[in-house]
Amino acid sequence: MRPVEIDDTEPFIDVCGEYDIVKMTASWSWPVTKEVARERFCNALKFDPSKRLTLAILHDDGFIGLAGLGIKDDTDVHKLGYMIGRSWWGRGLMTEAVKALCQHGFSAMNADVIEADHYFDNPASGRVLEKAGFVKIRPADDTYSAARQENVPGWHFRLTSEGLRM
Ligand SMILES: CC(C)(COP(=O)(O)OP(=O)(O)OC[C@H]1O[C@@H](n2cnc3c(N)ncnc32)[C@H](O)[C@@H]1OP(=O)(O)O)[C@@H](O)C(=O)NCCC(=O)NCCS
Repeated sequence: MRPVEIDDTEPFIDVCGEYDIVKMTASWSWPVTKEVARERFCNALKFDPSKRLTLAILHDDGFIGLAGLGIKDDTDVHKLGYMIGRSWWGRGLMTEAVKALCQHGFSAMNADVIEADHYFDNPASGRVLEKAGFVKIRPADDTYSAARQENVPGWHFRLTSEGLRM
């Protein structure tokens, strides 16, 4: 993994610009355009990486996904998000990426607690979180899906450094 770059825009659209991927995230709207992705990647580069970090996941030097961790405004809680292209699902890659990013969050980003949500209709994401050591806490509060343009119920998970499974 490495920090996302503007040149990741087109590979990102090719790999992750699919409704079944985007609809599982809270903040990406549908359809994902190059303009939107480029603007988000530009913004990601402006943040202090000790507070908010967006990483490109690479495999054989090619872009295959994104993982981000950042402190939520006006809180001391870090929030995790991720997506990976369909061709790479089911190989343990996102679990590996999530573990590495969370370890970095605890060691270099001053994170005490890392939070993540997933929609009920996305059990694979719940499994990624469980394998990394996250604990299911309660139904999620923030349920709006920009892609689906509706509230979608989900689960809220938390991880502390003691819980991280490496
Ligand atoms: C969810 C997602 C990140 C998983 O990535 P991945 O690289 O396939 O994850 P891993 O291979 O590390 O682990 C997936 C786990 O989910 C399990 N799984 C897959 N489909 C499942 C399902 N329908 N029900 C339950 N578990 C499922 C896999 O068997 C695996 O668990 P295992 O190792 O115990 O067998 C990927 O599918 C994705 O990007 N989806 C679209 C975007 C998204 O959902 N982002 C997260 C938003 S919260």
